Amino acid sequence: MSDSEPKFLVTGGGGQLATSLDQRIENGVVLPASRLDITDRDAVFRAIREHRPEVVVNAAAYTQVDRAESEPVLAHAVNVTGVEHLATACREVGARFVQISTDFVFSGDETTPRRPEDPTGPASVYGRTKLSGEEISIDILGDRALVVRTAWLYAAGHANFVATMIRLMSERDEISVVCDQTGSPTWIETLSGGLLDLVQGGAGGIYHLTDSGEASWYEFALAIEEMGRDAGILEKPCRVNPIPTADYPTPATRPSYSVLDKSKTTEKLGMSTPHWRTSLARCLNEWQANENP
Ligand SMILES: NC(=O)c1ccc[n+]([C@@H]2O[C@H](COP(=O)([O-])OP(=O)(O)OC[C@H]3O[C@@H](n4cnc5c(N)ncnc54)[C@H](OP(=O)(O)O)[C@@H]3O)[C@@H](O)[C@H]2O)c1
Repeated sequence: MSDSEPKFLVTGGGGQLATSLDQRIENGVVLPASRLDITDRDAVFRAIREHRPEVVVNAAAYTQVDRAESEPVLAHAVNVTGVEHLATACREVGARFVQISTDFVFSGDETTPRRPEDPTGPASVYGRTKLSGEEISIDILGDRALVVRTAWLYAAGHANFVATMIRLMSERDEISVVCDQTGSPTWIETLSGGLLDLVQGGAGGIYHLTDSGEASWYEFALAIEEMGRDAGILEKPCRVNPIPTADYPTPATRPSYSVLDKSKTTEKLGMSTPHWRTSLARCLNEWQANENP
C-alpha cells in the first residue's frame, strides 16, 4: 500500500484472504487463530489494546458451509460472537472495522445480480451466521464498519474448489460437476486488492466485490481443465460432465443464482474487477510457478 497506509490488524492469519493481505500490508500485524481466537473476548480486547490498529480486517471465519449445518453453535461463535467482540473492541479504540461476508446471505431465488440493498434470505446455517455478522458490525459501528460481500474464493496453496478440481482431474479421466448453481469465481487477489482500495477510499456500509462475469461450477471446472493444461499443471485431458444439484446432494442448501451486482464498488473505486477467466489464468500460472520454482 501507499505511504499513507493506516495501521492494520488482520485476523484469520494463514487463511486465503489473510495470507494475501499479509503480502500487501506493510504497516500492521496479521494474527493466526493460534495467536488470536476471536471467540475469546478478553483476548480480542487485549490484542486490539496492545496493537492499537486504525483498521481491523476480520479475515477469520467459520467457512465449512456443509459442516455448519451440524455445528451451528460453533459457526455462530466464530461468525457472530467473534465479530461482536471485534466490533466492540474497535469502537473502544476508535478503529474502523472490515467484515467479510458472502453471496450466501441471499436466497439465490432471483435471476439478476444482487445489489447490496436487496433483501437477504440465507438458506443455510453458514449464510445466516454471516448475515448476523454483517448486522452486528453495522449496529455497533455504523459507517465505521465496512462489510465486503464476496464469493467463490480461490488462491494458490489453499484448499478450495480449484485445488479439488486439479486433484480430481489429475487422478481421473472423467468427473461430474453441478451445472445449475451460478456465481462469480473470484481470485483472492481481486478481493484483497479491492478491499484495501475501499479502505483507502474511506468506504463504509455494504459493498460487493468479486471478479466480473458469471459461471456455473461446471463452467468453472471446464475452464480449470482447459487452462490447467495450458499452464502445464494438468498433464492429460479429463472429461467434465454437467449434473444437476439434485444428483449431488449436500447438507447445506446453496443459492442457485448468487451473482453480486458490483456497480456501487466500481463507482467507488473508479474501475471494474477483472473477468474471472483472466484471474483464473493468472492464478494458475502462479500455481504452476509455486510448484516448480
Ligand atoms: N472461501 C470462499 O469461497 C468464501 C466465499 C464468500 C465469502 N467468504 C468469506 O471470506 C472470508 C475469508 O475467507 P477465506 O476463504 O480466506 O477463509 P479460510 O481460508 O477458511 O480462512 C479462515 C481463517 O479463519 C481462521 N479461524 C477460524 N476460526 C477462528 C477463530 N475462532 N479465531 C480466529 N481465527 C479463526 C481459520 O483458522 P484455522 O484454519 O486454524 O481454523 C482460517 O485461518 C470469510 O469471512 C469467509 O466467510 C469466503
